[in-house]
Amino acid sequence: MRIVHVLGTRPNFVKMAPLIAAIGRRMPDAEQTIVHTGQHYDRLMSEIFFEQLGVPAPDHMLEVGSGSHAQQTAKVMERLEPLLVEDRPDLVVVPGDVNSTVAAALTAVKLDIPVAHLESGLRSHDRTMPEEINRIVTDQISDILWVHSEEAIRNLELEGIPAERAHFVGNTMIDSLVALQDRFRPLGACREFGLEPGSYLLVTLHRPALVDGPLLFDAIAALNQVSTEMPILFPVHPRTRARLAGNAELAENLHLVDPAGYLEFLSLEADAGAVLTDSGGIQEETSYLGVPCFTLRDNTERPVTIELGTNVLLGLDPARITEIPVIVASQERAVAGVSAPPEPPPLWDGHAAERIADLLAAQGGSSV
Ligand code: UD1
Ligand code: UDP
Repeated sequence: MRIVHVLGTRPNFVKMAPLIAAIGRRMPDAEQTIVHTGQHYDRLMSEIFFEQLGVPAPDHMLEVGSGSHAQQTAKVMERLEPLLVEDRPDLVVVPGDVNSTVAAALTAVKLDIPVAHLESGLRSHDRTMPEEINRIVTDQISDILWVHSEEAIRNLELEGIPAERAHFVGNTMIDSLVALQDRFRPLGACREFGLEPGSYLLVTLHRPALVDGPLLFDAIAALNQVSTEMPILFPVHPRTRARLAGNAELAENLHLVDPAGYLEFLSLEADAGAVLTDSGGIQEETSYLGVPCFTLRDNTERPVTIELGTNVLLGLDPARITEIPVIVASQERAVAGVSAPPEPPPLWDGHAAERIADLLAAQGGSSV
């Protein structure tokens, strides 16, 4: 079987690393080609993930870079198409919900090449989110849908997608976390910033609905206030960095730093007293780690993390950030690592990629 994997952004690399490795182990004769679209390109948003996750260097770099949605999507399509025409793989794999995902799926399906979508079926039911459009389109045109939670299957059914296309395999982002536990748990990355495990609030914010308007500055004001009770470490996404660009007054205990490498970030997450985020993946990782997570959004495509009790949906309301220290105190959570985390959702067990490789191997390279 000849497989082309198309990746473009930080969370894509984390989701795909275990799958590429598992296919290599389970199907040693499979020919895997890695295409990096270049949607993310800074070393700390791209290369460091390949190094830390042991992903082979990409075979092709499309170098699409930043741009409007149409520009980014169109550039991926234009630059991927000739590769697929020449290569004619048996399968194109696309992860997640970013512009690179939908662009690659569209390119492949129009060439009549089967597409598999990893992390299919998530829905925020909020079509103002660019990712929601990417998810809906990608799921409709993909031949194989690998899902990580039961609600994803219901979401697909509601959109009339035949059940036989969906496979409940588990969460490959958690596979990556589990595989690196021995490396990130002892790291103590927070100490490099003079912070003690269990004492600090870790923050990431990058969604356009929050950071592309005035709400970002309301959030900084609320974080300044919280930092008098709880030190804050905020590894800043480049979109957010560009918006802040020296325009915000920062309190002494609010530390804005570069994006963290993956191992360092997992260490910071595992040792945090709490996490404030609008990221999708971080809602999942904190659930697995049992670290209290506060999501600064009106909705989530990951309701399983709310049901588990680790994630609180604050709403797109920066004023509510000031409630975090009180809620954390009332949760009476012991210092990180002492209290037992809740049981993770079904199949978030470190073996999702192996299940996918088994499914592919069972098809024996015949038409998918
Ligand atoms: C993208 C995804 C989002 C995902 C996020 C993960 C879409 C529509 N959005 O958002 O779903 O949650 O990645 O992090 O696909 N930039 C740099 N260096 C980089 C990459 C980006 O400086 O390496 C800056 C550029 O100014 C760029 C901006 O960040 O314009 C936004 O990048 P882009 O890839 O368009 O969207 P993200 O906000 O990263
Ligand atoms: N991450 C990281 N360094 C950071 C912030 C996040 O390594 O400074 C990792 C995080 O552990 C998770 C992934 O990046 O695996 C989440 O990516 P992001 O929040 O950018 O995207 P989303 O999940 O929202 O699409």
